[in-house]
Amino acid sequence: EKGGYDHFMLKEIFEQPDSLTDCLRGRLEPEAGILTLAGVEQNLSAFAQAKRIVIIACGTSWHAGLVAEYMIETLCRIPVEVEYASEFRYRNPVIGVGDVIIAISQSGETADTLVAIEKAKEQGAFIFGVVNAVGSSISRISHAGAYTHAGPEIGVASTKAFTGQLTVLAMMAMKIGKEKGTITAATYQHLIKELGQIPEKVKNTLAAHLKVKEVADKYADARDFLFLGRGYNFPVALEGALKLKEISYIHAEGYPAAEMKHGPIALVDENLPVLFVATKDAYYEKIVSNIQEIKARKGKVIAIVTEGDDLIKGMADDIIEVPETDELLAPLVSVLPTQLLSYYIGVARGLDVDKPRNLAKSVTVE
Ligand code: F6R
Repeated sequence: EKGGYDHFMLKEIFEQPDSLTDCLRGRLEPEAGILTLAGVEQNLSAFAQAKRIVIIACGTSWHAGLVAEYMIETLCRIPVEVEYASEFRYRNPVIGVGDVIIAISQSGETADTLVAIEKAKEQGAFIFGVVNAVGSSISRISHAGAYTHAGPEIGVASTKAFTGQLTVLAMMAMKIGKEKGTITAATYQHLIKELGQIPEKVKNTLAAHLKVKEVADKYADARDFLFLGRGYNFPVALEGALKLKEISYIHAEGYPAAEMKHGPIALVDENLPVLFVATKDAYYEKIVSNIQEIKARKGKVIAIVTEGDDLIKGMADDIIEVPETDELLAPLVSVLPTQLLSYYIGVARGLDVDKPRNLAKSVTVE
């Protein structure tokens, strides 16, 4: 049942080229330049006329929501808020007709997310579910939705569901942006082409897993870890830190790289590994100076970089390369080394990576 892998988590990490192909099947035809997403197309006016979009989720799904915030603001020019379901449901949120809620959930059963969207639905919002588990509660109470089609996720840590969420959310932003006229036909076609290449790039990234294992073995005894990123890679830093905490029980924090100097930099010394998610994008030069700031304080820098990046290679203690893609899609490849890193560190520490202590696969209690 683990298909020859030692753990479900590793099997699910390596399934991503296939799970993403399944997610794109029947939706994306790169050669023809076509993207269809039935749930969005049937509700195009609700999206195109939305005054704002509120994304509701928990945990890893909430991180996918943060990436979607950048995608939707860039491509659709619609204001986006990303809310923790547990906070949203107990507030008195200002929600009404004209608001679109995107609920993101792997299990489709997370109690906080379910109750939060019920509340928004009562207040007149349009509810769109981005869910993995077919027929789950969240998919049933949503007005419309799009499945991630990642297949069953058994390992407690969310891996392939996360990349499925990012893929669906990217397709949504592209579709809505095209409808609104907030992206050019050329950008739309460029993203279709880039998205079509993602499964192959994911496969190539995973093929280099032994490099990540080497890094994992080197830092397996760390007490703390810092994860930093900017722009589209900022949520990847948060996700990398969450995964490491869950799977290896190492204390880890994720921050937007520029926030470091507002506090966390006090933690930096020669014992602190700092992982930068630093692929080539609009923020590249900024993150290079953040790396220099860490090196100046003797922190150990591990950097996830775009293939062929010699500049960061010359500064970092360890680098892990990922293929180049459009910055909007970069999290789909840059998150993979963080998944593998947590896995290999967890294994090196002799932990039960598929069932970390105190965690349940779906949190159906508040
Ligand atoms: C992290 C993880 C959790 C879930 C969260 C939401 O690896 O698995 O943080 O992402 O409990 O679960 P869903 O997506 O099922 O609503």
